[in-house]
Amino acid sequence: MSDRSELLSTGEPFAFDAERDAEFERLIVRYPIRESMIMPALWMAQEQQGWISTEAIEYIAERIGTFPAKVFELATFYTMYQLKPAGQYHICVCRTLSCWLRDKQAIVDYLAEEIGIRPGQISEDGRFSLEEVECLGHCGTAPVVQVNGEFHEEMDLEKFKALLATLE
Ligand code: FES
Repeated sequence: MSDRSELLSTGEPFAFDAERDAEFERLIVRYPIRESMIMPALWMAQEQQGWISTEAIEYIAERIGTFPAKVFELATFYTMYQLKPAGQYHICVCRTLSCWLRDKQAIVDYLAEEIGIRPGQISEDGRFSLEEVECLGHCGTAPVVQVNGEFHEEMDLEKFKALLATLE
């Protein structure tokens, strides 16, 4: 299991670029409770930076007017948020019951053998990163894999190899 309890720092201050700054201002007025903007803001930070750093958490908390701990809670709970730099292709493999029973491990093992990455790791060339995540909500079509947020369902090993080939 990859560790989602720690944040990494870039060592640089974070701020939304002009486009996202305008989007933040457009959206925040829609929410009677400003903290409801935490998740969209996290998503915007991830789009901009590729992942979510300590500095982004602090920036979002300040923009919204809440505690960094509240932003941290959401960022660490939802696996759609990247807490460290990801590969060009970030692969999430569901590890919950249906996917486990339908041999998600064959996919995880294949990635270890062929690409050299285990959950929580990024390949040496930076092309692939792997994370095992909890139920992705598509249990009826297990095992389920996401690549850069796109769902791929009923992924036996042969289908997964074919998918990988399209990414290379
Ligand atoms: S158990 Fe894998 S999608 Fe639900």
